Amino acid sequence: MLTWDDFNSEEKQKTPEAEPAKAQVAMQQTAVVEEDAVTLATKPSVSTGSINDVSEALDNLDIEKGLEELEGASSRVDVDQKQMINCRADVNQLVPFKYDWAWQKYLDGSANHWMPQEINMTADVALWKDPNGLTEDERRIVMRNLGFFSTADSLVANNIVLSLYRHITNPECRQYLLRQALEEAIHTHAYQYVIESLGMDEGEIFNMYKEIPSVARKAAWALPFTESLADQNFKTGSLEDDKTLLRNLIAFYCVLEGIFFYCGFTQILSMGNRNKMTGTAEQFQYILRDESMHVNFGIDMINQIKLENPQLWDEAMQAEARNMILQGTQLEIEYAHDTMPGGILGMNAESMSDYLKFIANRRLTQIGLEEEFPNATNPFPWMSEIMDLRKEKNFFETRVIEYQTGGALSWD
Ligand SMILES: [Fe+2]
Ligand SMILES: [Fe+2]
Repeated sequence: MLTWDDFNSEEKQKTPEAEPAKAQVAMQQTAVVEEDAVTLATKPSVSTGSINDVSEALDNLDIEKGLEELEGASSRVDVDQKQMINCRADVNQLVPFKYDWAWQKYLDGSANHWMPQEINMTADVALWKDPNGLTEDERRIVMRNLGFFSTADSLVANNIVLSLYRHITNPECRQYLLRQALEEAIHTHAYQYVIESLGMDEGEIFNMYKEIPSVARKAAWALPFTESLADQNFKTGSLEDDKTLLRNLIAFYCVLEGIFFYCGFTQILSMGNRNKMTGTAEQFQYILRDESMHVNFGIDMINQIKLENPQLWDEAMQAEARNMILQGTQLEIEYAHDTMPGGILGMNAESMSDYLKFIANRRLTQIGLEEEFPNATNPFPWMSEIMDLRKEKNFFETRVIEYQTGGALSWD
């Protein structure tokens, strides 16, 4: 780190020849400043920063025009005016609430706030560095999943901030989207924290989404859905464009967060169940809790948009949604084969494939479509137990209570 002593000695060591050049630059700068001063003096419309100019500018402030430019109408918002998309009412008026489910999820997410550094990684570091600590298959699972997730959460965050947010015209949902964007940043932080703690090759991990085919194919599948919305000229309001938005929601919430995360979560949590990489597994457990809320929120948004815009949910769109979910399932089954060439941790690619079909059925029925795999059963009931809200609350009870107490200010 540079100290003031270093700084002073460096300054003294500078060659005297440099001084004339420096003086010349200083003179040129002075000339520019003087020229600016003359220009300003001859242009009275430009504020010179005096208090009189400031007051005059504020006196001329047009409130109505400002509000119109903000977004939507400048009048008070009535609850019936609120809509998920294409709403003309002011998006800056959070209340009155129309979509209580969105606000409630924002509150629940905030009550469950956590940070990666709170989780002890000591046992994981010792196990990872022990040459006999893990098998090659177990190491592959840890690395592939860190490779996929470290960039997948960033894709989700980018989709929210750069594509989705401006097209969702409801402030309760926007409030949750902001919460979700923060949670995605925390998830990326968690993966980086694990990668750094274990002393992995960061370049190798962060480039897997481009270099390892089963990881790259999942990212490549999702990216076109975000690109169409990210185009600055894209606007909702027509049947086709509203369908494009709906496709984005299905791609990100039902497939990317709703299917692509599930093989990896199951593998890492299974390690934790066997007392291996328990710190990493705990990070994933917190992430899974956030993710199951993200998926539920996304599905609520999709169903609400369908309800308000039934023309979007025609036969063609239903067939497309079904196809997207099945494509995602297929890609995740490929990922299961790539990450588990043999049996490991009491699971294999076949049992994972059954589990993914079970998950795909849930995603289909959650948005009102029929199951594709009627005989699929859940081979990992313990995963459902982890995600079950009541159990989760028990599991995280201490921490949640701590946060709620710690977060409340007292003026006594
Ligand atoms: Fe995430
Ligand atoms: Fe998420």
